Amino acid sequence: MSTLLRVEHLTTAIGARGPEILSAVDLSLQSGEVLGVVGESGSGKSMLALSIMGLLPHPIQVRGGRILLGDHDLLALRAPQMRALRGKDIAMIFQEPMTSLNPVMRVGQQIGEVLRWHLGMRGDAARAEGIALLRRAEMPDPQRQIDAYPHELSGGMRQRVMVAMALAGRPRLLVADEPTTALDVTIQAQILDLVRKLQHENGMSVLLITHDLGVIAEMCDRVAVMYAGRVVESGSVLDIFDRPSHPYTRGLLASRPKISAGAQWLSTIEGSVPAVGQLPQGCSFAPRCRLAHAACNVVPPLRPLGDAHQVACVFPFEPVVAQAVV
Ligand SMILES: Nc1ncnc2c1ncn2[C@@H]1O[C@H](COP(=O)(O)OP(=O)(O)O)[C@@H](O)[C@H]1O
Ligand code: SF4
Ligand SMILES: [Mg+2]
Repeated sequence: MSTLLRVEHLTTAIGARGPEILSAVDLSLQSGEVLGVVGESGSGKSMLALSIMGLLPHPIQVRGGRILLGDHDLLALRAPQMRALRGKDIAMIFQEPMTSLNPVMRVGQQIGEVLRWHLGMRGDAARAEGIALLRRAEMPDPQRQIDAYPHELSGGMRQRVMVAMALAGRPRLLVADEPTTALDVTIQAQILDLVRKLQHENGMSVLLITHDLGVIAEMCDRVAVMYAGRVVESGSVLDIFDRPSHPYTRGLLASRPKISAGAQWLSTIEGSVPAVGQLPQGCSFAPRCRLAHAACNVVPPLRPLGDAHQVACVFPFEPVVAQAVV
C-alpha cells in the first residue's frame, strides 16, 4: 500500500498571531485505507478536515507544517489549483448536508455542476451520470429524485445526495466529517455501510471523523485520537481498543455504554476540552488526568509504542500493563 495523504506537523491558528487550534498534527493515510479521527467536541477534528480541504474560515489559517496528497504539496498550491483538486481528487461530506446543498437548486443541477466542472460533462450525459451516481448512493427512485429540491428530501436522502456529489469527481480521498451524527440510528448504519461499500469498490481512502467509538470500531482500519488540537494516540483499531495507552483514550473507551452493563455509562472523564487559547502549560490533558504528575509539565511528543502504535504521554500504559488493567 502506498501513502496517499501525509499530514506533517500541521499547525492551524487564528490569524497570524492568535492562538493555535491545531498544534503539530502528524498523521498519514494509505491508499484504500479508512482512518478514523476521534475525540470529544472541540478537539479540532473539523479544523483538521477543513485544513486538508483548504476551506478554513477566515481568519483561521495554516501556520506551519505540510499536507501532502500523493505528489501534491497542498499548502503550496494556488487557489485555482486547489479548487481543481477539491471535488476531483479529494471530496468531503459534512454532518449537515443542508448546509452544503444549495436550497434553491434541484439535486440534478447540483450534481451536474460537479460533473461539468471536473469532467466536462453536460446535458443528457450529465443527467444520466447523475442518476447513475444517485443509484450508486442507493437513493430510492433516482430518476424522480434527481429533480427534487433538497428540502423535499429526508436527512438520510440528503446525505445520499452528498455522497453522490462526492463520488462524482471519482476522488482518491473522501473526508467525512461526522457524516451520520445528525441521522437516526437505522439511517446512520445504512449510510456507513454505503460509505464502506463504495470505499471498497473504488479503492478510495477515507478520513472518517467522528466522536463515536462505535463508528470507529465498525468502519476503520486505523485510528488517530485527538485532544485539544493534538493527536495524542494513533494505531490500528486493535491497538486502540485492546491496548489503549493514553489516559484520554482509556477514558473515552471507559465512557462507552456497555450492553452488558444495561447500557449504563460506566464512567466519564471529568471536565471538558480546554478552549482555544486557554490550554494549560505542558500536557493539555493534565487537568483531567488522574496520573498527572510534575513531570507532565512538558508537552509530550508522539512516540512509538509498537509497530504502528504511537502515544503522546509522559506515563503511557505499556501494552502488557494495559492488558492486565483493562
Ligand atoms: N471560526 C472559529 N473561530 C475561532 N475558533 C473556532 C472557530 N471554529 C472553531 N473554533 C474552535 O476551534 C476548536 C476546534 O474546533 P472543531 O475543529 O470544530 O472541533 P471538533 O470538530 O473536534 O468538535 C474549538 O475550540 C472551537 O471552539
Ligand atoms: S502526560 Fe501526564 S497528564 Fe498528560 S496524559 Fe500523560 S500522564 Fe496524564
Ligand atoms: Mg466537528
